[in-house]
Amino acid sequence: MPSTQVPSPGLPIIQAFFDEPTNTISYLVADPATRQAAVIDPVLDYDHRSGTVDVGSVDAILAAAAAEGFTIVWALETHAHADHLSGAPYIKAKTGAAIGIGEHIKDVQKIFRPLFNLAELRTDGSDFDRLFADGERFPLGELEFEVMHTPGHTPADIVYRIGDAAFVGDTLFMPDYGTARADFPGGDARTLYRSIRRLLSLPGETRLFLCHDYKAPGRDHYAWETTVAEQRAANVHVGAEAGEDEFVAMREARDATLAAPTLLLPSIQVNIRAGRFPEAESNGVHYLRVPVTAKPGAELALT
Ligand SMILES: [Fe+2]
Repeated sequence: MPSTQVPSPGLPIIQAFFDEPTNTISYLVADPATRQAAVIDPVLDYDHRSGTVDVGSVDAILAAAAAEGFTIVWALETHAHADHLSGAPYIKAKTGAAIGIGEHIKDVQKIFRPLFNLAELRTDGSDFDRLFADGERFPLGELEFEVMHTPGHTPADIVYRIGDAAFVGDTLFMPDYGTARADFPGGDARTLYRSIRRLLSLPGETRLFLCHDYKAPGRDHYAWETTVAEQRAANVHVGAEAGEDEFVAMREARDATLAAPTLLLPSIQVNIRAGRFPEAESNGVHYLRVPVTAKPGAELALT
């Protein structure tokens, strides 16, 4: 069930939607005055074993918006996700919402175009409707989003600030869980640390809404809302005591132990095109690609 928060004047209405298969939180954010709304980081249901997509998760958000009389005008991505496919194109098809992402998605497209040999992929970001620069502002009814570029997890991560809320994507997790990995192509632990420090220079009462939660050891429930003050005081990776070099050493050592996300390959090749699948082939079927590589000594297996 989504959780709803009733806002004070001038603040957005925020509903959170948790997708347990991918541990992702999507948000429906609305201006109470005009009922204009944005969806942040919508999830397309995707069963990789059967190659089947479904829209139950996005439909739940659309139904909540309809129940509240919201008009969805934005489908916003904090970054090109590597752990779930984006539901943004479906939202756009159903509502006409514009799809937005950080302008450095162009860098991410340039990184992955050769990896997937996507000759037809444009690397100018034009698959998206809007590319946001650091400091850019854009309206949501009578409210306004402000964008912060927060690279490190990927080169293109952005944070969407509105009222006293900030939607931080994979920049931070809950204080007891720490931070996101920084080892994807184009990611960088030192850059992530500096982005987090900038984020934690916002007013302490700023509410931070996370994109993922995995339950920290000892915590029996999912959580996705915290504050800048709580993160400064208690984040296990970047709290008060953590210096930059210490963080980089910890993050790089930890990342070296992490397996690739289950949906990494399908997610990236879809999400860098604003969530669109490759065109159907001559038999009418859409295909995703798997670049196959051999471990050292196993090259003969690919001949
Ligand atoms: Fe991510």
